[in-house]
Amino acid sequence: MAYKRIVVATDGSSTAETAERIAIALARSTKGTLSIVHVFTDRARADAAVARAVALAEERQVKHEIVLADGDPADAIMGIADERDAEIIVTGSRGLFKSEQLIGSVVRKVVNNAPCDVLLTRPREDPATVGEAPYHRILLATDGSATADRAARKGFALAKRLAASVALVFVGHPKTGELVLADTAATIGEGAPADQMILEGEPGETIIGTAREHRFDLVIVGNKGMAGARAAILGSVPREIAEFAPCDVLVARTIAQNLSEIQPGEGGIVATGDHKVAVYRRPDGAVVTISAKCTHMGCTVKWNAADKVWDCPCHGSRYTPTGEVINGPAERALAPAEL
Ligand code: FES
Repeated sequence: MAYKRIVVATDGSSTAETAERIAIALARSTKGTLSIVHVFTDRARADAAVARAVALAEERQVKHEIVLADGDPADAIMGIADERDAEIIVTGSRGLFKSEQLIGSVVRKVVNNAPCDVLLTRPREDPATVGEAPYHRILLATDGSATADRAARKGFALAKRLAASVALVFVGHPKTGELVLADTAATIGEGAPADQMILEGEPGETIIGTAREHRFDLVIVGNKGMAGARAAILGSVPREIAEFAPCDVLVARTIAQNLSEIQPGEGGIVATGDHKVAVYRRPDGAVVTISAKCTHMGCTVKWNAADKVWDCPCHGSRYTPTGEVINGPAERALAPAEL
C-alpha cells in the first residue's frame, strides 16, 4: 500500500479544501502523483476551481496533473481514477455540490462504485491545520474476513507512514474477537503496537460510537462485510460508517480477489502480474477467464452479483458472465485472457 497514484476530486469550495490538503499530504508522503480532478458545469470557472489545490501541490512539490471533465460527476471521477489505475480517490464527504447534505449523492455513488479505495474527509474548522501527517489515531475495524485483512494491511502501512497509533476493533462474540484480533495484530500488524477492542452490539453503530468516544481521526473499513455481505459492492456496515462516522473514513476496496474466493455462479477480478482478469466460475465449478478491460475505452469491468453480469463503471457497458456484449457503448466482447 503505497498510494502512489492518487485522485482528489474538488469543486474549489471551502469544504473541499480539507480533501485537497490531505490528498497532497498523502502524495507527498509516498512521492506519488496526484490527479486534481474537477468536473465542471461551467468551463469558464473550471480553472479557478482547481487553483488552490494546484498552488498547494506546487508549494509542497507534489507531482500533479489537472484533469477537467464534464458530464456526470461521479462517473467522470471514477472513470478518471480507472484510466489512471489510481489506488485511492480522496473527496470531501459533503459536496461536491453545495445543495447536498451530510454525504452527497455524488460522493455516495463514488464510495459505492469506485474502482479503488476511497478516503472521505469531513470538513475541518480550519483546513490549514491539516499537516504533513493528517492522522494521529487510526481505528481499524475488522471481522477477520479476507477483505478486512486487506483493509487492515493498508491501515497498518498508512499508520506506519504517518507515525499514527492504531487500534483494532472487532464487534461480535468475545471469543471470536480474541482470536481474530490476536491473529490480525500478529500476522498483519507484525507485532506493531495496536490497542485491541472487542465490543458487542450492532457493528456500524458500535464502530461509529467508538470513533466518537475515543476521538479517532480516521476509521478504516473494508468495502465488504462485516456481516458476510459478499455479494454487495459496498456492504451495509461500511456504508453506515461512511455516512455517519464523526471523522474521516477510508473505505479500502477489495476489487481483486483470489481465485479460491470466487464461488460457483459468481464472478470476480483477479490480479495477475500487471493485468487484471475477469473470472467467472460456472455453476458446475468450471472457470472462464476473460480480460477485465472494457472494449469501449479500457476501464476495468466489475462483477454485478445481483444481475450476474459484468458492468463497466465508466460508460455503462454490460457483458454476460462469459464476456459477450449485452449493452454498449462497447461493441466487442471481452477478450479471452489467461491467469
Ligand atoms: Fe466506456 Fe467501458 S470504458 S463503457
